[in-house]
Amino acid sequence: MGTTVIRGGLVITAAEETNADVLVEDGRVTALAAHDSDVARVWAESAGRVIDATGRYVIPGGVDAHTHMEMPFGGTYAVDTFETGTRAAAWGGTTTIVDFAVQTVGESLRAGLDAWHAKADGNCAVDYAFHMILSDVTEDTLKEMDALVDEGVTSFKLFMAYPGVFYSDDGKILRAMQRAAGNGGLVMMHAENGIAIDVLVEQALAAGRTDPRHHGEVRHALLEAEATHRAIQLARVAGAPLYVVHVSAMEAVAELAQARDLGLPVFGETCPQYLFLSADNLAEPDFEGAKYVCSTPLRPKEHQAHLWRALRTDDLQVVSTDHCPFCFKGQKEMGLGDFSKIPNGLPGVENRMDLLHQAVVDGHISRRRWIEIACAAPARMFGLYPRKGTIAPGSDADIVIYDPDAAQVMSAETHHMNVDYSAYEGRTVTGRVQTVLSRGEVVVDDRSYTGRAGHGRFIARETCRYPG
Ligand code: URP
Ligand code: ZN
Ligand code: ZN
Repeated sequence: MGTTVIRGGLVITAAEETNADVLVEDGRVTALAAHDSDVARVWAESAGRVIDATGRYVIPGGVDAHTHMEMPFGGTYAVDTFETGTRAAAWGGTTTIVDFAVQTVGESLRAGLDAWHAKADGNCAVDYAFHMILSDVTEDTLKEMDALVDEGVTSFKLFMAYPGVFYSDDGKILRAMQRAAGNGGLVMMHAENGIAIDVLVEQALAAGRTDPRHHGEVRHALLEAEATHRAIQLARVAGAPLYVVHVSAMEAVAELAQARDLGLPVFGETCPQYLFLSADNLAEPDFEGAKYVCSTPLRPKEHQAHLWRALRTDDLQVVSTDHCPFCFKGQKEMGLGDFSKIPNGLPGVENRMDLLHQAVVDGHISRRRWIEIACAAPARMFGLYPRKGTIAPGSDADIVIYDPDAAQVMSAETHHMNVDYSAYEGRTVTGRVQTVLSRGEVVVDDRSYTGRAGHGRFIARETCRYPG
């Protein structure tokens, strides 16, 4: 692979903004130098390729630490394959995904992980890694956790929701946390009190409240907060760090903030849907609300300000997508007349970097905070930093040339995700991905796709590198 110089742009990392040219050699960043410096001129003269980034941002490729490609769920499958989903990720400026391999109840972690390797191997447009979903905590699976950490699958998701599917009781959760405390793994928690929620689901359906908006009501914010509190206490008892996924309720944010104020190694992620959408979308007529059914659910608008503030104060560290797309036709429609049968999940892997740039435009976060929550923090949290998540000598040349002034309208007509609707249909945002490099290879070239299935490699991760 030859030498590439990215010239004339504003390089933004989580740490600093610099007017610098970037030298890429053999898939890695090797040096940065001031625009028009002697050294940068020499690079440009001898480079195999010079990319003009004048007037553009030069940012690290996004790291989306929460995706579900081809995930079996709710009697169907998430419709993006690793091929279509990682291509869409590239289009949206995300160059690494961390997807969730699933353990089937009664089977080993190894069988689940092997199945996910088989789905992804040779099909990805950008690099990928795996977390492991623990659906069945037994003596055997606890032992298997150690082996997975050794092979770079260093985080484990457990569910306090979905009884009979992924649910683990408190004893199982405690055991898994104790194991993670010993092997350096990070427990990721879906924090909702699923036992109580199932009672409310049953009552709602019996009373004829069957529309999608009731999905949000039965998955009560206090049941997210309660589970978050319980997960934190269990992690404290186990002496393990904790990462709470898809935080949506302000009451859950308060639990995380309180724990962090005590100095506990407790971390949290939210997702664009909780920042930009609300329970109003779940109430859209003609079953359209089904498009927005996910868990934790979209909340009333007043929760959004608390999420934004937590992202500024670092009480939430990461924004991931929880990309889990189901088509409206034929899949979301499975829940017509019974909201509990609507497959849970939203598409978003292509939209995250742009929506968060819009948050910069709107004044919610700074440019560097954008890069922190979308690139650097997820890379640190999941043992990918500084290989991913920054632009520095030695890091992989996963780089996005971003046009901060271009306007775009989000739509299913133009997106690249394999799903028949956009959760952000018709929304205009300022900013757009122009060119994307993955390990030095141009995969999106001035808004033309030049990538290929099989370019993306599995990345064995280190353990969590987050301070605290
Ligand atoms: O609704 C969601 N979030 N679907 C994906 C599975 C999960 O719980 O993350
Ligand atoms: Zn979840
Ligand atoms: Zn998820």
